[in-house]
Amino acid sequence: MCGIVGYAGKEDCVDLLIDGLQKLEYRGYDSAGIAVIQNSHIEVKKTKGRLADLVDKMETEGRLKGCCGIGHTRWATHGEPSDINSHPHGNERISIVHNGIIENYREIKEFLIEHGYSFESETDTETVLKLLDYYYKGDPIDAIAHVVKEIRGSYALGILFMDFPDRIFAVRKDSPLIIGIGENGNFIASDVPAILKYTRNYYLLEQNEIATLTEKGVDICDIHKNPVKKEIQVADWDLDAAEKGGYEHFMLKEINEQPTSIRTTISPRISDGMPYLEESGMTKEMLKSYSRIYIVACGTAMHAGLIGKYVIEKLAGIEVTVDIASEFRYRNPLITDKDLVILISQSGETADTLAALKLAKEKGATTMSIVNVKGASIARESDIVIYTHAGPEISVASTKAYAVQLSVMYLLAFELAYAKGAITKEECMRLTKELQNVPDKIQDILVLKERCQFIASRLVNAESLLYIGRGLDYALSMEGSLKLKEISYIHSESYAAGELKHGTISLVTEDMPVIAVATQSDLFEKTVSNIKEVKARGAKVTMICREGTVDDKAVANHLVTLPDMDDIMMPMLALVPMQYIAYYTAVLKGCDVDKPRNLAKSVTVE
Ligand code: M6R
Repeated sequence: MCGIVGYAGKEDCVDLLIDGLQKLEYRGYDSAGIAVIQNSHIEVKKTKGRLADLVDKMETEGRLKGCCGIGHTRWATHGEPSDINSHPHGNERISIVHNGIIENYREIKEFLIEHGYSFESETDTETVLKLLDYYYKGDPIDAIAHVVKEIRGSYALGILFMDFPDRIFAVRKDSPLIIGIGENGNFIASDVPAILKYTRNYYLLEQNEIATLTEKGVDICDIHKNPVKKEIQVADWDLDAAEKGGYEHFMLKEINEQPTSIRTTISPRISDGMPYLEESGMTKEMLKSYSRIYIVACGTAMHAGLIGKYVIEKLAGIEVTVDIASEFRYRNPLITDKDLVILISQSGETADTLAALKLAKEKGATTMSIVNVKGASIARESDIVIYTHAGPEISVASTKAYAVQLSVMYLLAFELAYAKGAITKEECMRLTKELQNVPDKIQDILVLKERCQFIASRLVNAESLLYIGRGLDYALSMEGSLKLKEISYIHSESYAAGELKHGTISLVTEDMPVIAVATQSDLFEKTVSNIKEVKARGAKVTMICREGTVDDKAVANHLVTLPDMDDIMMPMLALVPMQYIAYYTAVLKGCDVDKPRNLAKSVTVE
C-alpha cells in the first residue's frame, strides 16, 4: 500500500526516483509524485493517475532537477485519488511522503487548526506534515521525535527539510522501509526492487528509528538521539527478477517462473532425501510437541494454508485450524503455549497477519512464519521463519508465491508426519521425491497455455462463474476463483461440489460456466456426479483432471488434463491451468492484469 523512494547523493535524482517508483508501482497506483530540492526550493510534481501520467506531466510542464528528493506512488486510504491528495505533501520548508495510516489524525488536525493551521487535502498525511512544521524549530530529528510520540498508527515517512538541502530523513513504524547504501548516494525505499539497480546493500530500519541520509553516508538514531549501529543486509534477488523479461505481463512471467521458484525453495530444505527444516530452528522435538496448529494468513496465502490443513491432517494426524487473519485477530482464538501458529505471507508486511502474529505471541504459542521478502516485519517478529525463494513477485495477483508457499506446506507436513511417527521413513522419502518431481511436471503443464487461452475465450463474456471441487480440489478452487475475480472482474464463487444442492445449484443456468477440479482419486466419482448435476442444468463445464480419467464431452464441455502424481500433490499441478485461465480471461477482457483496480500488492493497512 503506497510505495516510497528517496535519494540523497551526487546524481540528479529525478530518473532514479521515477525508476524506483516504477518498481514499486505494484504497491499502489492511483497517483504519483516526487519532490526534489532544486535551486534552494522544494519543487513538487504530482498527479492523480499512474506513474506514466506523472512522467507526461513533467514532459509538458518541465522536468525537475536536483540531487536530493523523495517520491511516492499511492493507494488511496484517506481521500479519493486526486492531485491534491497525492503525495508529496509539503510547504516551502518541509515535504513528506507517507505509507500507512495515522489513526488519530482527526484529533491532531483539530489541535493544529486551533494553532492556526489550515488544510488543503483530505489525507491523514497532511496532518503529519503540519505537525512536523509545528514542532520544527531548526532540528529535524527533534521535530520527527516529537511527531512520532504523538501519532498513532502505521507509517513509513520520507521527509525533506529545506534548511538541510543535501539530506533526506526517514522513520517507520509498522510499515516497511529500507535504507539502501549506494556508491554515489543513499536511498530509502519501501522494498528492495526499487534500489536493486543501484545497490544490493541496505539497512533494515526498526520501529521509530530515525535515519538521516546524505551523499556521504547514513546516520541512524533512536527517538532519544542515541546512535544505532546496523548490520548491512545484502539483497539476493536478481535485477532481472524485477523486470518483465520479454513477457507481456509480470503475471505471465511469474507463472512461468514457478518451476524454478519451487526448486530454489525446496532444494536447501531436503537432505538425504528427507525434509530438513531444522536450519529454521524447528527441531523434530518441537514438531512432535504441538497438539494443535493454527494457520493464519490473508487472500492467496490463506488459500495455501487450506491446502496445508488437508495435507497435515491427512499425513500427520494433527488438528489444523485455518483462519483469515482479519477474523483471527478479533475472535479471541483459544490458543495455548502448546500450539504452533503458522503465519503465511508473501510480503511479510500484511497488517492483519502481523497483528495475528502479535496476538499468537501474547498467548504464548510458538510462531512460525513462511515469508518471501527477506527481513520483512512478520519474518522478524516470529520465533521461526522459513523463507520462500520465489524472488520478487511484482504482479498484484499472486502466483509463484502461492506455489512456493504450497511447497513449504508439503515439506512441513512430511516432516511433521515423520516426527510424529505417522509415516515411515520410506514413505517420507517417497513423498519428498514426489515433491522434487513437481517442478518438471509444472514445466510440462506450462505448454497448456493455448488450451487455457481457448477456455478463457469461452468465459470472457460470463457475468458469473462457479468453481467446484472436493477436498484438496475444493481448497485449490478457492484460489482459482480469487485469481479470476481479482484480475478479470468477473464474479466467481468457489463451492464444495457436494454442497451445491443445498442451495447454490439454484444459480446454475446455461449462463453460469462451471470450472470443476477433479484430481483426487477417492473423490473423483463423487465430483463427476456433481458435474453431471450442473451440466444437466445447462452449465458449460471445464474440467481439470488427470490424463485418462475421463472421456471428453461425456462429462465436461472442455477438459484440461494433467500428468499423474500422488493425489496429495495434484494441487501443485492443477494450480497452473487455474492461473492461466484467469490470466487469459483478463487479457481478453482488456484488463490491466498486473495492476487490477482497487488493489495493491502489499496490504499494510487493516
Ligand atoms: O503479502 P501477503 O501474502 O500477506 O498478501 C496476502 C494477500 O493480500 C494476497 O495474497 C492477495 O490475496 C493477492 N493479491 C491475491 O492474488
